[in-house]
Amino acid sequence: MGATIIIGAQWGDEGKGKVIDYLSKKASIVIRFHGGNNAGHTIVNLHGKFAMHLIPSGIFNENSIAVIGNGVVLDLEVLVSEIEMIEKTGLKFSKRLYISPRCNIIFPYHKILEKIYEEAKGKNKTWTTGRGISPAYADKVSYNGIRLFDLLNKKVFKEKLETQLNIKNKIIKTFGEKPLEIKDIYTKQLKLLEKIKPYIKEPFEILNIDLMSNKEILLEGAHGVFLDNDWGTYPFVTASGVLSGNATIGAGIAPKYIKKIVGISKAYTTRVGHGPFPSELFEKEAERLRQLGNEFGSTTGRPRRCGWFDAELIRFAAKINGFSDLAITKMDILDSFDKIKICTHYLLDGSKVKYEDISTEMLFKVKPIYKTLTGWKSKTNGIRRYDDLPKEAKNYLKEIEKLIGVKISYISTGPETENIIEI
Ligand code: IMP
Repeated sequence: MGATIIIGAQWGDEGKGKVIDYLSKKASIVIRFHGGNNAGHTIVNLHGKFAMHLIPSGIFNENSIAVIGNGVVLDLEVLVSEIEMIEKTGLKFSKRLYISPRCNIIFPYHKILEKIYEEAKGKNKTWTTGRGISPAYADKVSYNGIRLFDLLNKKVFKEKLETQLNIKNKIIKTFGEKPLEIKDIYTKQLKLLEKIKPYIKEPFEILNIDLMSNKEILLEGAHGVFLDNDWGTYPFVTASGVLSGNATIGAGIAPKYIKKIVGISKAYTTRVGHGPFPSELFEKEAERLRQLGNEFGSTTGRPRRCGWFDAELIRFAAKINGFSDLAITKMDILDSFDKIKICTHYLLDGSKVKYEDISTEMLFKVKPIYKTLTGWKSKTNGIRRYDDLPKEAKNYLKEIEKLIGVKISYISTGPETENIIEI
């Protein structure tokens, strides 16, 4: 017992939601610790199919508490619509949802600023999700953020909002956009606040009580390692800290309680947005994976770029996060391939290079070196026992374990929560 951290080991969209949903069955608390509604988890369970952006999947388990930790940035409109979506299922969760009052809020001006930055960068733009995430985090670290704590005090909220609009409207006008009215934002945010007020409770105490009584706690990562603001493919990254080291800060628990860190990777690789992607496939080959894996963004609907499994990346991800276990998802998407490739390492100008030693510009230029394996050409979809996997599928998994040096403990063989092999 203790805390388990779940980390996406690639560029997001690894199928974390599914693994988290599976693991959260045993957890007393499931907590989101960073990011905002730029993340999206699709969960299929007995209540239906849900695209979750903010509320941890633990909300579907009547024995667990779902926590939105202090490290998360909140778009209150999205949060309220997510709460209403879950209410419609008839699930009772009034005492099972905690939102940290330390969460920073995403305001309409953050989305406008993001648009301004993206347009100004022209061909070098990041292709962000347009949700206002990076300007909200920038305000947080530059002491210009407004937190839920502030909204709970109308006078403080109004004063802070006035100051921010004074600054932001000047920039907005300079770039030819329409300035924002304080009245509209103030009234709307306070109305949204009413809906979430019952859930704004500092989770610090319940977390510590459960940790000290050795209960199972799950820290749910969003995005993926290579979108981390420090160690990802900067500047084609997101604005928050994605790694396990950041999880305890964004959740508000001490690192000594972490007992397990699970890295989640697809059996192949995908990425949305711009940035280097050494094992990327193009045209027909990419399209085949995209169609088979339904690789379209759950937040923006954008087609995802697709490629082979990249062991160089996951090896680094395993080291920097301290993965104790790996989960391989979407294994069944490779069912029809004759040959399957794994990128084992990179060459740059003929020499072997490691991810951590090279810049993003150099990563654009590396040549992926592949090992080709024989495909299993049979249906793994829905298999729940390791022994039932075809020999070639086991070989593929063993090869990954050998290249990464971390044991594979979970294999996902379909979108439903129960389609998972636990080893
Ligand atoms: P932002 O997080 O909206 O600022 O976008 C920055 C970059 O991260 C863009 O390339 C996004 O497509 C990417 N990104 C952010 N969150 C996710 C995610 O959860 N999955 C995949 N890509 C993401």
